[in-house]
Amino acid sequence: MTIDFAALPPDFLWGTATSAYQIEGAVDEDGRSPSIWDTFSHTPGKIDNNDHGDVACDHYHRWRDDIGVMRQLGANAYRLSIAWPRVVPGGDGPANPKGLAFYDELVDGLLAAGITPSVTLYHWDLPQVLQDRGGWPERETAEHFAAYASVVAERLGDRVTHWATLNEPSCSAWIGHLEGTMAPGFTDLSAAVRASYHLLLGHGLATQAIRAAVPDAEVGIVNNLSTVHPATDRPQDEAAARRLDGHVNRWWLDPVHGRGFPADMREVYGVELPEKPGDLETIAAPLDWLGLNYYFPATVADDPSGPAPHVRSVRRLGVPRTGMDWEVDATGIETLLLRLTEEYGPRRIYVTENGSAFPDVVRPDGTVDDPERQDYLVRHLAACASAARKGAPLAGYFAWSLLDNFEWAYGYDKRFGLVHVDYATQTRTIKGTGHRYADVIRDHGRQARRAA
Ligand code: FCB
Repeated sequence: MTIDFAALPPDFLWGTATSAYQIEGAVDEDGRSPSIWDTFSHTPGKIDNNDHGDVACDHYHRWRDDIGVMRQLGANAYRLSIAWPRVVPGGDGPANPKGLAFYDELVDGLLAAGITPSVTLYHWDLPQVLQDRGGWPERETAEHFAAYASVVAERLGDRVTHWATLNEPSCSAWIGHLEGTMAPGFTDLSAAVRASYHLLLGHGLATQAIRAAVPDAEVGIVNNLSTVHPATDRPQDEAAARRLDGHVNRWWLDPVHGRGFPADMREVYGVELPEKPGDLETIAAPLDWLGLNYYFPATVADDPSGPAPHVRSVRRLGVPRTGMDWEVDATGIETLLLRLTEEYGPRRIYVTENGSAFPDVVRPDGTVDDPERQDYLVRHLAACASAARKGAPLAGYFAWSLLDNFEWAYGYDKRFGLVHVDYATQTRTIKGTGHRYADVIRDHGRQARRAA
């Protein structure tokens, strides 16, 4: 299948994405302090197989090889996250020179390879010391986040222009504080709502801090959004779908765009927001781009007895699913790109994550063929290209993930990589999907040259 890339700009960013805790390992080296994910993953029973990120892909030591792999893919961008506990191990207070030096060298290595770094400041690894002081439900965490953002921006801002504040704050708030299956593992609606508020406040404060340190910074926020369908056309299920849309989409988009927190959801949660004058303006600091992480759609029915937002997922029959048991529906990414464009008018949109896990088979000759993952990639890229043709200002696509890695509560069994990792030997092998991605990138280059 050849995709028509005519609507994508010639300088489109073709990237891969990772996050610090999922790949780095080296959790107690060079002054890094524990994060909430170290604590959570070492709590028995929280992670499949009791896996943890102590070694992960050993990227902390193998990053040069990993840049080599990116070059083999032909990628011109890389989305990484900075580990707050490496850079400011006390949560607030002095920076750790060795932690900063690691990212400094990594950025230099990427630039030398012709790869644009896109830096995410928070991909879920809050320093445990700040959790011990209350974590995201407390306002001071947002303030410490901005101070940490300044430290990183001042150090890397002469070379990094592409910045994201938060990755998927809805997972931090809702899964971490309400559902409890991610760190810090709470099931407390009031804590979750306060965490959501302070995450967005932290986003706004960090946006200001980045802009102060890096005049030409391009700042964005990364949200994981879902298309939401009612299970039936009963009004109760339609209302349920509207609530889930509020919970996973509007709660995160509206405040950042100056519309405040959605009134219907404030009522659903029934939790007072810890608002102070001026906060809403801070949260709505103007952005250069929006990041969309898209994996799957949701279908829900009303569930009055369940916890907020009182919905129950409904399994659609006959729909293909990934190894995560997530539905495959590429139309969702197009719908969301167009919805962001129409409802929020961003200057640019990046697909900051998209990808799939399937069980991989390493063949006797060492190669890894993964037709289902390839199919997922190509379908979603075609849907992205279609959204761009219809007017979405799509400026880049980052495949999740460069490498197989520590997939949070699922541990190492779920493999999202374009590149296979043999955890016993740390051998990297480009999978069929990685080769396919390289072809796509070349194809876009050819199409862009012909059009020029
Ligand atoms: C997203 C996360 C990312 C990865 C993918 C599969 O929610 O941002 O770290 O785990 O899902």
